[in-house]
Amino acid sequence: MLKIAFLTDHHVSLHTKNPFGIDTENRFLQLLEVIQQKKYDGIILGGDLCYLEGDAETYDWYLNHLASLDIPFNIISGNHDNSELLVKTFKDYSVNEDKELFYTKTWHDVPMIFLDTAKGFMGEKQYIWLENQIRQQDAKNIFIFMHHPPIPCGSKLMDSRYAFLQSEKFVSLCQRFPDMVFNIFAGHYHIERTVFHKNIICHITPSSYVNIDPEKEEFTLHPCQDNSYRELIWEGPDFSTNIVCIP
Ligand SMILES: [Fe+2]
Repeated sequence: MLKIAFLTDHHVSLHTKNPFGIDTENRFLQLLEVIQQKKYDGIILGGDLCYLEGDAETYDWYLNHLASLDIPFNIISGNHDNSELLVKTFKDYSVNEDKELFYTKTWHDVPMIFLDTAKGFMGEKQYIWLENQIRQQDAKNIFIFMHHPPIPCGSKLMDSRYAFLQSEKFVSLCQRFPDMVFNIFAGHYHIERTVFHKNIICHITPSSYVNIDPEKEEFTLHPCQDNSYRELIWEGPDFSTNIVCIP
């Protein structure tokens, strides 16, 4: 069995005290405490580690806390991150010539693909690399982690103003592999939602900062502001995923 915790959009604000009344550092640390107690095999941070823009001090803050756990972790960049700065703190990673951070990892025989959508799109080199990675996979289910959902997901605010800019291109890449199912794990929308589109299943995980009402065209806080993360469980041929709320 493999159990991974996927957490996202912490927007840790070391220099802005409690935006929207939320202690962003404490909310992230609460998640880590539960994850440690529940003994996950790994942690994936889904991006938007920083409050508004990438910040070296904030990345160092994360490294200090993550390194103190006995759990391996992986990170992807969000639109409030700076991949180039991030890899200066997390030295196992590197960016390509387009300053994008993407890579693969096989965890207990489960191949996973990690993408960089920090700019709201992916460079051509990343697309070529992604297609090559998919061609090398022999499983039906492909597991991809990316900050932006690659398809519209029904949030009036996010779909109209902050959506991934290359949705058609991404979908057409997935459609070139009609026998595969693309299981995408994303954040960015600050809601919980699962969307099926062609051979894509997109699981969006809520933020540990604020969650956004998907019914409103202007930024409006969601009535539910629970602190939560997603767990992903592979057990033999089966896979399951769900949100875990922190009391
Ligand atoms: Fe975010």
